[in-house]
Amino acid sequence: MEKVELTRKSIEIILQGQSPEGAYIACSNFPTYQYCWFRDGSFCALAMAEYGYIESVKRFLDWTAKVILRFEAKIVTCISKKQNGEDILESEFVHSRFTSTGEEVPGHWGFNQYDGLGLWLWTVCELIDRFPSLGNSDSLTKASELCAHYLAVLWNTACSDCWEEHEDGIHTYTLAAIEAGLIRYSEFTSQSEYRVIASTIDSFIMGHCVADGCFIKSIGMNMPDANLMGLCEPFCLVSWDDPIFQKTLSQIQTKLMTPGLHRYETDSYYGGGEWVLLSEWAGWLYAKHGRITDAEIVRHWAENLASSNGALPEQIAEHLFFPEMYTLWAKKCGKIAEPLLWSHAMYLLLAHEIEEVKANVINRSCFE
Ligand code: BGC
Repeated sequence: MEKVELTRKSIEIILQGQSPEGAYIACSNFPTYQYCWFRDGSFCALAMAEYGYIESVKRFLDWTAKVILRFEAKIVTCISKKQNGEDILESEFVHSRFTSTGEEVPGHWGFNQYDGLGLWLWTVCELIDRFPSLGNSDSLTKASELCAHYLAVLWNTACSDCWEEHEDGIHTYTLAAIEAGLIRYSEFTSQSEYRVIASTIDSFIMGHCVADGCFIKSIGMNMPDANLMGLCEPFCLVSWDDPIFQKTLSQIQTKLMTPGLHRYETDSYYGGGEWVLLSEWAGWLYAKHGRITDAEIVRHWAENLASSNGALPEQIAEHLFFPEMYTLWAKKCGKIAEPLLWSHAMYLLLAHEIEEVKANVINRSCFE
């Protein structure tokens, strides 16, 4: 599918996947993904903002603020239990999946996840700063404050990783998302205490989440995870040429790129295929850091994958790490989720960045 066509289709698919209440539904025809996650939704909001769909972004942010405020009592309980050194029951944490009307989805599902909230906090501050027409509202202000407080107190509590598989760990990407969210929030509100906590998290990452000169997936899992790209983009916690980041990236490329990007070496979900959103994330990172040809290769790769309706899946069953596991998952859950809104969001971010870089090159040469 052509670039312009897939851009148009991706926007259309994200708009269609937005519920009347404002939630971006991860994948409405895949039973376990018929819900909204702050993680997937925030990436959709970032992408839609780049293409000027401010009204859609505003509806999403208002919806998320309502959800956070609805669970204010839970947030307050977790904060006070943590501060008093009491155990927090699994059901007491704020969940990670919500129905379009903002209810928590019942049933066991790696409840306490902080990366989505960290990314959300970062996104709110980033977008309100960059797109003033989004405005701010009392509910968004209050929800951001609650979220920042929750993360600042609970950041070192074991939680589920962003892939919702390792439920009781300390995960580098999660810490990074919290740190980035708190830094951005502290800049946005001029509350320096959040900056102080972010620095503590940073020292923790450097002290516990680096092995052999590379960032690791989680404490006790000394392997790369493709989500570690997030430390550089979008979170800017490390610079592109930071030696630890470069060594991590080169591990990601050698161990996880075939040429699409896998999540991590022992991933067996649907056999452990190539994730479209991660491959696009790599392309986005390349485009931001001068590797425009590599970024375009990824963009073409994604364009070739799109179905005739322009739909992008979550992953493709190519170069599977555990081929025997594919059938098992297909029997259990059916076809791989498609269209996955997050895959479309990352395509848009990648395509937009490539266009920006090209436009800047043209503008520069006009003035030379
Ligand atoms: C992924 C999550 C994602 C969810 C919805 C899960 O399989 O591990 O990261 O938020 O799907 O897309």
